[in-house]
Parts: sequence; structure tokens; C-alpha cells
Amino acid sequence: MTNHPADAVDGSPVDSSAAASAAGSAVAPGVAGRTVLIAGATSAAGVAVATALRTAGARVIAVGSNAERLATFAAEVPDAITRVCDLSDFAAVNALASEIRDAAAAHGHGGIDGLIHLVGGWRGGGGLAGQTDEDWDFLHRNVVTTLRNTTRAFNPDLLASPAGRLAIVSSVSVDKPAPGGANYAAAKAAAETWTRAVGQGFAKAAPDAAAVIFVVRGLEGLEAELATNVVGLWNADAASVNNTRVRLGE
Ligand SMILES: NC(=O)c1ccc[n+]([C@@H]2O[C@H](COP(=O)([O-])OP(=O)(O)OC[C@H]3O[C@@H](n4cnc5c(N)ncnc54)[C@H](OP(=O)(O)O)[C@@H]3O)[C@@H](O)[C@H]2O)c1
Repeated sequence: MTNHPADAVDGSPVDSSAAASAAGSAVAPGVAGRTVLIAGATSAAGVAVATALRTAGARVIAVGSNAERLATFAAEVPDAITRVCDLSDFAAVNALASEIRDAAAAHGHGGIDGLIHLVGGWRGGGGLAGQTDEDWDFLHRNVVTTLRNTTRAFNPDLLASPAGRLAIVSSVSVDKPAPGGANYAAAKAAAETWTRAVGQGFAKAAPDAAAVIFVVRGLEGLEAELATNVVGLWNADAASVNNTRVRLGE
């Protein structure tokens, strides 16, 4: 644990309402001053996204299940707040959400404004016969359960935010699944459907919120593009991007 979630990560107070009035609107565009939680932050993509968000002036709460990997992450993104949490454990995710909410309220902030879900992993191979139960359990836990848990726990914050954003990174294999990757494609398809359900809830209850599905073939080499697109989520009109699939790397 490095910082307090309600502290400005650069040590100074972050006042998004001042930015809003300066812009002459109730809600300023942009991610500056907003709080964004990265679920599964310790990969190269997580570091890139966190760095871009910090550079753009957001508070970043980086979550991973492994303290050592989070310490390595913290060395690379020193201004991010880090928390160890097994996101496949709903009780643990709820406790994390309560902690962040309470600390933010104590400092006069709202809860998180963004949830960027990056927990993933790949298992596959060997045609349909190779789609093992063990691999399915792994993929279901990482790809689906952690998304269900984080969105269920943080949905009230995203609905309450003046600019709530949810993003996941899915795969082209959802459109063109192969037998050897059927477990993976099915888990990603479930994650996309879940995300669109969250987005439908946004459309009904929080029109300034948006859920977006980024789609890649492979993420290696696209980390910077992903990071730029994540930051850009707060520059886009929510209704125009809500429940869209955005292909990266083309
Ligand atoms: N890599 C690709 O080529 C590719 C292709 C298509 C789509 N995607 C998607 O893009 C996203 C990011 O990919 P990636 O390769 O950067 O992801 P990743 O390395 O598979 O996962 C990101 C982080 O999630 C953390 N994590 C794993 N289990 C966790 C748990 N139970 N609780 C909390 N944190 C957990 C891991 O850190 P700890 O182990 O330290 O917790 C890991 O650093 C994923 O959704 C992935 O499916 C990736």
C-alpha cells in the first residue's frame, strides 16, 4: 500500500470542479482530476495505461493480486496508488470498494470515475478436445469473474460520477473463434456481453457514463495506443461511445 486513495497522487489537492467551472460547463471534459481504478495493473499494458492517465492528471488506483509485481509497478509509476486485492473474490472487491469510497468521502471526493479492466490471460490449443475444464476455470475466473466482481462493486460509483467510464480489452477471436481457442473466445464473448449490460444500465441511469470494449488481435506493441484511447474516453461524448467496440492496431 503506498498512498491514501483520497489523496491527490501528486500530493496536491485535485479540484475537478474548478476545472469544470473554468471550462464553463458543469462537467469538464478530460480525465484530469478524475479517479481511475485499473483492475489488473501490473502488465506492460497496465503500466502504459497508468502512466498515460497520471500524465493526463488523473488519480490512479492500481490493483493486482501480487504484492511483488505491484511493487515493481510502483517503481515504474511512482505516483499511482497501489492495492493488493484478489479481484476474483467478491467479498475482497467489495471491501476494497468500501475502503476507497470511505477514504474519498473523508477527503470530500466522490468514488472512482473510471474502471479499466485488464485482468486477462490465455489458455488454449489442441482443438475442442484441448479445451480443458482447468483452462476454462482459469479463463472464467480471470476474464469473467473479475469483471463481474469489479463492475458489481463499483457500479454505484460509476453511476454517481459525472463522467463514469468502464473499459475492457477483448479479442478479435470473439468474431472468429477457432476450436483451439474456444474456451478463450467464449470467456471474452461473455465479458463483452457483461460490459454491454453495464453500458445499458449507464444509458438508462447515467447518460454521462460509458462502457467501451477495445478489441485487439494481440496487445504487444499496442500498449501506447490502448493508453491513448483510455485517456481519450474522457474526451468523448458518453452517449456516442457507450457500448461501442473499438478496434485497436489497424
Ligand atoms: N496480451 C494479449 O495479447 C491480449 C490479446 C487480446 C486481449 N487481451 C486482453 O487485454 C487485457 C490486458 O492484457 P494483459 O496481457 O496485459 O493482461 P494480463 O497480464 O493477463 O493481466 C493483467 C494483470 O492482471 C493481474 N491479475 C491476474 N489475476 C488477478 C486477480 N485475481 N486479481 C487482481 N489482479 C489480477 C495480473 O497481475 P498479478 O498477477 O500481479 O495480480 C496481471 O498483471 C486483458 O483483458 C487481456 O485478456 C490481451
